[in-house]
Amino acid sequence: MQFEHNRSLRSGNTLGFDRSARYYCEPATPDQLQEALAFAASKQLNLNVLGSGSNIILTRNIDGLVVHPSSKAITHTPHAIDTDHVRVTCDAGVNWNDLVQFTLNHGLYGLENLSLIPGLAGAAPIQNIGAYGVELCDVFESLSAVHIASGDTRIFHAEDCAFGYRDSVFKSVVAGEYIITQLTLNLTTTGPVNLSYGALAQAVEESDIEHPTAQDVSNIVCAIRRAKLPDPSKIGNAGSFFKNPIIRADTYALLKKDWPTLPGHQVSPTDVQAQTVAQHENNNYPHMKVPAAWLIDQSGYKGQRYGNVGVHHLQALVLVHFGGGTGDELLALASRIQTTVKNTFGIMLEIEPGIV
Ligand code: EPU
Repeated sequence: MQFEHNRSLRSGNTLGFDRSARYYCEPATPDQLQEALAFAASKQLNLNVLGSGSNIILTRNIDGLVVHPSSKAITHTPHAIDTDHVRVTCDAGVNWNDLVQFTLNHGLYGLENLSLIPGLAGAAPIQNIGAYGVELCDVFESLSAVHIASGDTRIFHAEDCAFGYRDSVFKSVVAGEYIITQLTLNLTTTGPVNLSYGALAQAVEESDIEHPTAQDVSNIVCAIRRAKLPDPSKIGNAGSFFKNPIIRADTYALLKKDWPTLPGHQVSPTDVQAQTVAQHENNNYPHMKVPAAWLIDQSGYKGQRYGNVGVHHLQALVLVHFGGGTGDELLALASRIQTTVKNTFGIMLEIEPGIV
């Protein structure tokens, strides 16, 4: 396997920041991954995993070894007992949407709402990707990961991952310790489709399809995403830049008096747990999730440009890079937005992508 020296990462991060890696490799087999670990150890390099770079803000060059997982096998096996269920096992280097398409082509239900999310399959558990009423944890069975320090393989079952809203152990207690190599998902051959997300249910109704299949739902999700979210190959972005904040229901009710159109919906205790533990708050109250996009939009940032960066004109939650800018420039804009939203609504927005 080749170890490239001073490799540009400009096309390796969807924000398109012009940063580089001191060393870079693309292991496609378990042996090549072990070779990468040995290389990093022999040169005392920090090891960083970079998938498709769709959820990362590069503020500097990476002074270490960047590992881009490149194994791409997908297999599916029916459950021995429950014939409606199918296990799909997928290598970390598979493009997420290719996996979704593979499952649709095999008539499987479960991933249709997650169509077109950018990124590699191996990155999906780290932030428990989610969209249109479904999160990865809803179909997740287990994953294999290699422990960087020892080279040993470990299986993580769903309960080991502590999945929450855009959160897992891979962002907290074991952050940076493992390289995810394979995922196993539990899908069905019969559905049902999940239309719990209001905007999706409405689009399905407007399509006049009476009994939508997984493929129908996927087509509609793709159309919504294409209409609202900027294509990273055309304009640099990392999807949603902030998490949707979760606030106490009594705080929400007070805000609603001043801002009667403030949207919000009640959230599950696990989502509340992850956020309130991080903020050392008591989580024994009902909590509401409010759209960060709405808060940013009301603060007047939508469509605004500041030098080489800005806020997308169709979706206020997506910060964009027009070219020639830096990660620090984008973070300065993020900080400006955070301050305005905090001063206006008393809510602190949390940045969602990882920052290097
Ligand atoms: N809104 C505005 N202005 C805008 C955009 C939205 O006021 O410019 C308001 C509207 O009231 C809208 C509400 O915000 O109803 C929610 O917006 P939207 O449905 O677009 O969803 P979101 O909360 O902005 C979340 C995820 C997306 C996911 C969509 C669909 C987060 C941080 N983001 O966005 O995930 O695709 O729901 O399920 O949870 C990502 O993580 O990168 C991502 C794109």
